Amino acid sequence: MGFSDCEDRLLCRIEKFRLQRPVSVQGVMEHALQHRERVGVQDFVLLEDYRSEAAFIDNLRKRFNENIIYTYIGNVLISVNPYKPLPIYTEEKTKLYYKKAFFEAPPHVFAIADNAYRSLVYEHREQCILISGESGSGKTEASKKVLEYIAARTNHLQSVETVKDKLLQSNPLLEAFGNAKTHRNDNSSRFGKYMDIQFNYEGAPEGGHILNYLLEKSRVVSQMSGERNFHIFYQLLAGAGPELLQQLRLQGRPEMYKYTTDIVPGSQKLNDAEQFRTVLEAMKVIEISEDEQKEIFEIVASVLHLGNVKFVQNEKGYAEILNHDANSGNVASLLKVDQAKLREALTSRTIDARGDVVNTPLDLEQAQYARDALAKAIYEKHFSWLVSRLNSSLAPKDKEPNSSVMGILDIYGFEIFPKNSFEQFCINFCNEKLQQLFIQLTLKQEQEEYLREGIEWEPVEYFNNIVICDLIEARHQGIISILDDECLRPGDATDLSFLEKLSQKLDGHAHYKSHRKVDVKTQKLMGRDEFCLVHYAGEVTYNVNTFLEKNNDLLFRDLQGLMATCGNATLGSCFKALNLSSKKRPETAITQFKISLNELIKILSSKEPSYIRCIKPNDFKMPMQFDDKLVSHQVKYLGLMENLRVRRAGFAYRRTYEAFLERYKCLSKETWPNYRGPARDGVQKLVEALQYQSEDYRMGNTKIFIRFPKTLFETEDAFQIKKNDIATIIQSRWRGYWQRKQYLKMRESAIIIQKWVRRYLAQRLRERRRKAADVIRAFIKGFITRNGPETPENRRFLGIAKVHWLKRLAQQLPRRLLDDAWPACPATCADASRQLRRLHRAHLARRYRLALSAPDKRQFELKVLAEKMFKGNKNSYPSSVGERFVEDRLSPEHRVLRDTFMASPSWPTGEQLIYSCEAVKYDRRGYKPRERALLASDKALYVLDASGRKTYKLKHRLPLDKLRVVVTNETDGLILIKIPQELKKDKGDLIISVSHVIEALTIVTDYTKKPEIIEIVDTRTIAHNLVNGKQGGTIEVTHGPQPAIQRAKSGNLLVVAATP
Ligand SMILES: Nc1ncnc2c1ncn2[C@@H]1O[C@H](COP(=O)(O)OP(=O)(O)OP(=O)(O)O)[C@@H](O)[C@H]1O
Ligand SMILES: [Mg+2]
Repeated sequence: MGFSDCEDRLLCRIEKFRLQRPVSVQGVMEHALQHRERVGVQDFVLLEDYRSEAAFIDNLRKRFNENIIYTYIGNVLISVNPYKPLPIYTEEKTKLYYKKAFFEAPPHVFAIADNAYRSLVYEHREQCILISGESGSGKTEASKKVLEYIAARTNHLQSVETVKDKLLQSNPLLEAFGNAKTHRNDNSSRFGKYMDIQFNYEGAPEGGHILNYLLEKSRVVSQMSGERNFHIFYQLLAGAGPELLQQLRLQGRPEMYKYTTDIVPGSQKLNDAEQFRTVLEAMKVIEISEDEQKEIFEIVASVLHLGNVKFVQNEKGYAEILNHDANSGNVASLLKVDQAKLREALTSRTIDARGDVVNTPLDLEQAQYARDALAKAIYEKHFSWLVSRLNSSLAPKDKEPNSSVMGILDIYGFEIFPKNSFEQFCINFCNEKLQQLFIQLTLKQEQEEYLREGIEWEPVEYFNNIVICDLIEARHQGIISILDDECLRPGDATDLSFLEKLSQKLDGHAHYKSHRKVDVKTQKLMGRDEFCLVHYAGEVTYNVNTFLEKNNDLLFRDLQGLMATCGNATLGSCFKALNLSSKKRPETAITQFKISLNELIKILSSKEPSYIRCIKPNDFKMPMQFDDKLVSHQVKYLGLMENLRVRRAGFAYRRTYEAFLERYKCLSKETWPNYRGPARDGVQKLVEALQYQSEDYRMGNTKIFIRFPKTLFETEDAFQIKKNDIATIIQSRWRGYWQRKQYLKMRESAIIIQKWVRRYLAQRLRERRRKAADVIRAFIKGFITRNGPETPENRRFLGIAKVHWLKRLAQQLPRRLLDDAWPACPATCADASRQLRRLHRAHLARRYRLALSAPDKRQFELKVLAEKMFKGNKNSYPSSVGERFVEDRLSPEHRVLRDTFMASPSWPTGEQLIYSCEAVKYDRRGYKPRERALLASDKALYVLDASGRKTYKLKHRLPLDKLRVVVTNETDGLILIKIPQELKKDKGDLIISVSHVIEALTIVTDYTKKPEIIEIVDTRTIAHNLVNGKQGGTIEVTHGPQPAIQRAKSGNLLVVAATP
């Protein structure tokens, strides 16, 4: 079945998957798939006419014209320099390549970087990215893009930011010192660079290390017209301030210095000045101290001064430096060496000939050689120092055991110039070695793997350049050996004698052509001092001129020794490192290079390689110009067709059964979630489920081989879709787990909060209880002491008691004056109670008083008078209190008699009756009782005989103001009226008894206002007078159960009062 049939079938299958997948995923996947096919093919493996170089270049051109500069051959990236900025390195585009397989996004240097990064971090396979291509094809740019991508890709990881800064900033610094403007490239790297980036277990960059190769130091002393010396010279001259320039004794014009004579246009100067600032900034980031910077610039300046050192020929024919030559002085002072010694070392040389030390002066040419050699040596050693300085700054702070390394190799590509010298020989040798590595790692290994895996496969014819490598580096026989032999041989070895040896030994080798042996046509083009090597990439003719000199790389010992003593610490350290005392010759330049190259190959062989092959589309640094011839040449010497042929003849993809099964097991029910049997069987089941056709794949011993990328794309697509389903399950599990974790966390938090709230509430409750207890205690104390003096505890009690008492009092106030009740009061209110009681009584009394009628008032006045007179004096007083005083105690019959009497002339006109009662009069002799009536007027007392009951007969009229009255203190009604003698008519004291003694005496006294006339006696006997004051009888007073007044046996009048 042809490839296109196969493709159709695969497309059908993809279509089937498309219909099955969810819309959103479908969108993403389709985009990637469609994009693959948009312009030409994005992978040359898919090129129909894959054997045709024209088709190959056509595909490159088509894409280039659409600004698509990247194309794959399998996992090799081909990059065509666009010579213009393209919007394909934005942050957005960068993210497009995160965790993407090659086929998921358009080819890109980021895809290479991402794949390498993922293999490194997730599969722990150390990586290297080999970038090759000719000068100006974009290698250095590509390497920077890789670095930038890695920096962006690891942005989310915790890493020491300064490491990334330092890695990124190492470029401008290295470029300033190691790059120069050439015809091919304005910023051509004049050294090879291999940079290791070290990652920690998380995949974050933690350090780096740089190896430099073969700095083109001849550029320090001479450049082709139109090219420049290393950037730093111009940058320093354009960018340094006047102060620094003065310190360095420089003038800011490059044309002043022999080594930088090429005139720099104005705009370039500006750029140089700007670049100088960038360099200073980079130095800061790299932590190169101010002192170190000063020394660095002193070294650069001293090289410029050294170039200007002039020699003149003295009369002996030897070189001499003129005394007024300031340049050597400048060099000496900048490098802090003795000027005289410097001059001497530049013009003479010490030769140690078997113990005889001889100082030989140099001729003019030798002196110039020595000067230039010194300048080159200073610059080269200083460059190496700078790299090691960078390395010490980039070295990871802590050595991590699990760190892994990604290397980036940016090394000069194959160089074929019209005239090729020692440098091109070295560079092309390097490229042969790298090609050999490429062959080993991809082509050869591939075939060998098929063999190992027992897969039927037609071996692909490819050219193994090991023969060329051997031709160059084989021991004893190789070009390098021959060159070294010639350099070390005593006698007059020259470049031509070297060429002669070459031809002697190598003529006949398929890849070596000497002038002698080539056909006539070539002979015409080739010089006699040239030889031709048939490199894997094409024939290159080398001119042997200066081969020996460059390989010897001779710097006279005197100069080396002098430099080792220089006061510039940086440079001094570079030269001190050389072992001057050793008699052994140092390795030649090419051997040193060979050694370091083999070390590099060793490093690279231990890593998984990714390739970026850079192509430059034209020689004019112009955008949108695609020179087919130029590109074809590069395609050829990069071995790209070869590469594609092998890719297409073989299988595009292979993985161990375990890895394949692990990745795709979810695509078959039989293998998901785990396949129990051998992985090979599992994969067999899987491919059956995936409906692979038999020609699509092969089952090797340990690996599955898939012939076409599309088969894999399809499987990967299906996996991506499935992954989404699985992801959903994992997500839901994860969410569940997460939610539960959150819930538990929340619960825990809630419990803690609850605990604290409870604690707080309990504390508050306890506090409240404590306060309540205090209140209760105070209450009880208050209660207990409620009758005591006022204290803070009982104050409220007392207050309440007062209120209650007052309320009670208000309700229980006695309504009547005679009501003696008064509510009990709290002790503290006793005083108030008393006061209130008094006030209340006063109030009641007042009210009572105000309510009294006139008679009642009089009655009271009489009673009060009676009280005054009799209370405590006469025993009948208490019984008199309750009874109302009456002014008329006469019976109705007596009243008639009285009225008659009062109407008679016996009653003086105008006299006012104040009291009338019936009375018993006892005779003064014999005490015979006689019934009488008593009338008291306001003037006199009338004693009337009422015995006839018809009229009253006046017996006595006794003027009240003349009378005295005696009564007993007992309950009797006796009144003894003492009559003064002047009242002649009287027959002595009058003894009478009345029923209401107190009443009668009170009413009368009320009128007379003379209480003193009444005498109350408490004697048992009272004497009474007879007429004229003669002593009469005696009245005895006694007690008895039967009150009476009668004559006693003794003849006295006996008054029996009721027993008290
Ligand atoms: N991807 C790119 N996009 C835009 N311009 C580019 C790109 N790659 C290279 N260039 C341009 O090409 C120039 C040369 O590229 P670069 O310096 O990377 O070449 P090189 O291969 O390193 O050459 P040399 O071997 O001389 O160092 C750059 O200065 C830049 O102007
Ligand atoms: Mg470069």
